[in-house]
Amino acid sequence: MDHCASWHGVIVTLFLILKLELWLCQEVEVFSPPLNLEIHNDSLHQRLLVEWNVSNKAFEPDTEIVFDIQVARSENMNIIANEIFLPDIHIGHVTSIRWTWDSQLPLECDSHSVRIRSKVVGKVFTVERNWSTWSPWKTHQGQNKERTRTGIYPYQRVVPEGSNVTFCCLPGRGQVVQKMRYGSEQMTQDFDTGTDSFVTSVKNVVRTKSDGTNVICVLGEKNPAGTVLIVSRLPDEPKKFSCETQDLQTLRCSWSPGPLYNFFGILKVTYVLQEWLSMKSYSCQRDHCVLPVKMNQQTYNFTLTARNRLGERSINSVVYLNQRVLLLAPSSLRVDHENASSITLSWSLRADYTTLGIQCQVDLQKTLVNVTSRGKRPTEIYKVSLSGLQPYTQYNLRVRCMADSSLAGWSNWTNIVVRTNEDAPTGALDVWRHIEEDDDGRIVTLYWRPSPHFKANGNISHYNIKIRPLEGAPEARESSVSGVKSFSISLGEQAYSINVTAHNKAGGSPPAELRIPAKAASGTEQTAADRSYGKDGGIYIMWQHKRNVHGYVVEWCSVPRSPHCDLQWKKYNSSIQSDVIKSRTFRPGVRYDFRIYGSMEDGEHLLEKAEGYTKENVSSVKPNVKISKIESRSIFLDWSPYPTDGSQEGFITGYNVYVNDTEKDCDLDKADDYPQLGHFRLCKFCIRDPNKMQITINKLRPNGKYEVAVVAITGGGETPAEFRKAYTPTDTGAALRSILAPVLTVLALALALLFIGCWKRTWLKRMCFPDIPDPNKSKIFSFDGKKGSMNGNILPTINHEPQLVDVVSIQEKRQHEMNKEVVISSEHQQHEAYTKIQTREGIGRDEDFGESYVPFDTEKSLYPTMKDPLYNSQPLCLEFFNQTYTSTSEDVNDNIPGYRPQLNITQVQCPPYVVQSVKPESGLDNDEPVICFNSPDYGSEPMSPTSVDSTAFILVD
Ligand SMILES: *[C@@H]1O[C@H](CO)[C@@H](O)[C@H](O)[C@H]1NC(C)=O
Ligand SMILES: *[C@@H]1O[C@H](CO)[C@@H](O)[C@H](O)[C@H]1NC(C)=O
Ligand SMILES: *[C@@H]1O[C@H](CO)[C@@H](O)[C@H](O)[C@H]1NC(C)=O
Ligand SMILES: *[C@@H]1O[C@H](CO)[C@@H](O)[C@H](O)[C@H]1NC(C)=O
Repeated sequence: MDHCASWHGVIVTLFLILKLELWLCQEVEVFSPPLNLEIHNDSLHQRLLVEWNVSNKAFEPDTEIVFDIQVARSENMNIIANEIFLPDIHIGHVTSIRWTWDSQLPLECDSHSVRIRSKVVGKVFTVERNWSTWSPWKTHQGQNKERTRTGIYPYQRVVPEGSNVTFCCLPGRGQVVQKMRYGSEQMTQDFDTGTDSFVTSVKNVVRTKSDGTNVICVLGEKNPAGTVLIVSRLPDEPKKFSCETQDLQTLRCSWSPGPLYNFFGILKVTYVLQEWLSMKSYSCQRDHCVLPVKMNQQTYNFTLTARNRLGERSINSVVYLNQRVLLLAPSSLRVDHENASSITLSWSLRADYTTLGIQCQVDLQKTLVNVTSRGKRPTEIYKVSLSGLQPYTQYNLRVRCMADSSLAGWSNWTNIVVRTNEDAPTGALDVWRHIEEDDDGRIVTLYWRPSPHFKANGNISHYNIKIRPLEGAPEARESSVSGVKSFSISLGEQAYSINVTAHNKAGGSPPAELRIPAKAASGTEQTAADRSYGKDGGIYIMWQHKRNVHGYVVEWCSVPRSPHCDLQWKKYNSSIQSDVIKSRTFRPGVRYDFRIYGSMEDGEHLLEKAEGYTKENVSSVKPNVKISKIESRSIFLDWSPYPTDGSQEGFITGYNVYVNDTEKDCDLDKADDYPQLGHFRLCKFCIRDPNKMQITINKLRPNGKYEVAVVAITGGGETPAEFRKAYTPTDTGAALRSILAPVLTVLALALALLFIGCWKRTWLKRMCFPDIPDPNKSKIFSFDGKKGSMNGNILPTINHEPQLVDVVSIQEKRQHEMNKEVVISSEHQQHEAYTKIQTREGIGRDEDFGESYVPFDTEKSLYPTMKDPLYNSQPLCLEFFNQTYTSTSEDVNDNIPGYRPQLNITQVQCPPYVVQSVKPESGLDNDEPVICFNSPDYGSEPMSPTSVDSTAFILVD
């Protein structure tokens, strides 16, 4: 084996040497250049087409031919491209070879020249030949020579966005290019062409408007030259391509073409639909195409192509006809009524669908009914029976259909409105009544309305009313009314049963029974109405549970206090005892009266009454206040009559009386409140009895300027206060009294003294004016041991002389004080006189409405709480005055403080000469000294405290 291998290497080496020998010794053959070089322009695409022939001599088997091509620009032959071209040809068959070159610069801008050389290369072995010689230059001339007019290139070009575009401006004779603009952009020259032409380029152009962008070449003063560049893009690929047929006659294919950009004009996009199986092509609208369905062709292989000047885009789609059937909407809908609750619905489809299976849906207002069928001819009908419908009810039915095989979905809906037939009413009416009784008999008015269970099931044509007495012969009366929901009838005194039925074309409803109790024996008892209150926009009513009652009825008028009451009612079962009655007709500030009935075996009996407001308002009626009397210290107000009944906008709960002292804060201490008004406080008196419409306000200032107002109170608030002026007059009576009283008092005192003087004359005489003693009989100087020891006064004249002067002065002072006290007391008396008819019980709940009202208790608290310093002395005055009226002689002596000074006087032994000297100054009546002088007992009996109490010697003389 080694032997063989070494031989093999030798053989190869020898072969290589031989081959080299052959190559070296061969005559070097110069390959001929390409022949007949021709050059054409494709100005639109700025493309040079180069074509040449190859000599047949050059063709050898297993060889390839390679060309070296040079492109030069301008007259200077600047080589701008050098390309090796290896054509994919079978030499021997083709002698003519083509090559294209795309120029960046428009071909018009300058001359372009081409030359070619070639050589042959071996395919298997390295048969390398030299290049042939160059062919002669072949030149394509530009438009840049000897121009008369200015030219700008490329001219009106359409390019795809993102391109780089080179422009040149070739000036006419004698002209010079100054500048170029692309749109508003100033361009710069790319390179110096060595000629007058101006070459510039725009990189990566962006999409322009459909009418392009201007390219302007400015030359001297002459009009500039210009052209337009349109930058656009390829058409969008059509999307959502789909086809459908409705009648199996035509196929409609549609798609979404994309945005409507540059669709018109130079860039208009055309759509072509190619069907490959039938090899038919259809020119289409922008977004759809309609083509006939070929008999027995189920499959369609489509290519849709969108094309514009810049290029085209296409999509493919295969369509199976049965999947694309979208049925026509059902037509000729018809309804046949079987009875009040079932109908038959039929329809047709206006195309021949005999090849298809079909299902339809009937929409029965939220319920779907499925119907399946073989496809039918257009003249045949599809139908379905629908049952379980409500009588006399309108149904909006709709139907749609679909081919079983179809992916295209349901047809459109077709609607039909159906009203089912009438049926007899179901459920009973809700019946109520109003009874008017008088001596002759009773008028019963029946009212009815549908109960919640009632269904008319048609047009109610009339109502039947059947009346029979509950007991006795069943002599029934029957009436029929239509168009109304009430009925009046005159009934006798016994109990009745009334049946009301509603009727339509199909029949009558079950009867609703109402019983009318026998007429009550005597006048029905008038129960007082309970007050109800508003709640949640309604009125809360409650009632007492009653035995033997199997239900309750509450009735009221929608329009209270009007002849047209519009009676309303509501029925309850026996377990309910309260309700909030609500009604759209309820208005705030209107009082509604409710009557509550209990249902019993023989009918309904009135149990209770109630009244109430949904909301109380402020009364619109202001109390009309009259100042019925005005005195120096009091005002009498009266605002009767004032309505407190159902005409009011709320329950009148009372009144507030406001007193305003216009000169200072009101300080009547019996006021309930002192609200502030402006600078001053008012006095507010509250009256809690709506029927009390008078008030007397006391303790005012004489000569005061007051304002008074009375407001009525409801649950909604107070009526607006209207103040009326009330000026108290000056107290003339008091002034008069202040003059008269001292005179009268002095007179009275004098009389009293006279009386006392007469009564105790003897004693007085003994005390004050003892008989002039006979010096012989004188006890003083007798020094009777017994007497002297009794008196203990040995020298009375010496002791008593100065005291007498004092006594007189005290007397005078007392007199003066008494005068004053009497004046005050007379005022006091006046107050007493008023307060005698004015008691605390009278306020708010006194039945005697006519009585005047005084908001304070004079007797208990008037004087202790008086602030006037004058009044502070009154307890003394009062005591004095009362006691003077009622006292006995003992009281006078022992208990009256005001009188005691006189006791002191009498206790003093006054010698006669002193009394006489006092007499002219005392101011007392002239009788006084007489009393003293006439005292008979002075001499015989000495002064004794006990003797004063004695009544035994009154007027002894
Ligand atoms: C190239 O050769 C073909 C046939 O060989 C001939 O028809 C054609 O005219 C030739 N072309 C030129 C430019 O001579
Ligand atoms: C291109 O050739 C056509 C004739 O085929 C000629 O009319 C046109 O002017 C040429 N364009 C240029 C730029 O040479
Ligand atoms: C539809 O036609 C296109 C083009 O002729 C072809 O390439 C494709 O296979 C066809 N498709 C069907 C499903 O026939
Ligand atoms: C009717 O058909 C629909 C779909 O086609 C289905 O969802 C529905 O359940 C069907 N109803 C009945 C009652 O068969």
